[in-house]
Amino acid sequence: MRKLFIAGNWKMNKGIKETGIFFNRLFELIDNYDSIDVAIAPPFTSLPEAVKMCREKKVLIGAQNMYFEEEGAFTGEISPLFLKELNVDFVILGHSERRHIFNESNELISKKVKTALKHDLTPVLCVGETLKEREDEKTETVLKEQMDSAFNDISPDDAKKVIIAYEPVWAIGTGKTATPEIAGDAHFFIRKRIKELYNSIVAEEIRIVYGGSVKPENAKALLDVKDIDGALIGGASLSADSFAKIINIGMEV
Ligand code: PGA
Repeated sequence: MRKLFIAGNWKMNKGIKETGIFFNRLFELIDNYDSIDVAIAPPFTSLPEAVKMCREKKVLIGAQNMYFEEEGAFTGEISPLFLKELNVDFVILGHSERRHIFNESNELISKKVKTALKHDLTPVLCVGETLKEREDEKTETVLKEQMDSAFNDISPDDAKKVIIAYEPVWAIGTGKTATPEIAGDAHFFIRKRIKELYNSIVAEEIRIVYGGSVKPENAKALLDVKDIDGALIGGASLSADSFAKIINIGMEV
């Protein structure tokens, strides 16, 4: 059985003070959530506060990005060593905003996945097609390219540790959610590709979560889909109340 991974991606929201307010409220609302993985990725500067507040609460804390080198002349970048020093658990890589606003390539993301695994940071690898790619019936081609590049040279044991987030670009921050059928088909395709790249054991164990306008109102229908192992939540994770609702739904599916 794959454990559900319910994660909030705060993007460029919430400094240290708001991080503290959020977790104080969240821990009033959730309890006994051991059956699922609850996770938050705050901005870099709020990571120490988030780690501190979650130390005894078993909420996983992650970064939203990192560089693939450990140190050097890379102005503005963050090393995996700095994340380890903060006791960060996971790192989101290849988010569509990184791919499309900051022009991150499949090649760069592939290097970051290797570095994260080397440093025992769980990569949350985002893949997903744009609206144009979907309309041109290129969804599977794009997903295949993104996955084949990210998993290039990754051993089966390491591959199992990766969490894949299927995030159709047209559904992110737009209020348009993929229907459970559309998301389910994409997840099925992704798992099938993992089986082709590795074997059925890796394909059965790897977690594939859905992201794109997940909210309390649609979470159950999405989480009920067989191949959907959790959610990566942007907007609805900014409020402790709505994030807690999704966690509670996750505990019941
Ligand atoms: P959204 O963001 O839930 O606001 O659509 C999801 C994401 O970007 O991970």
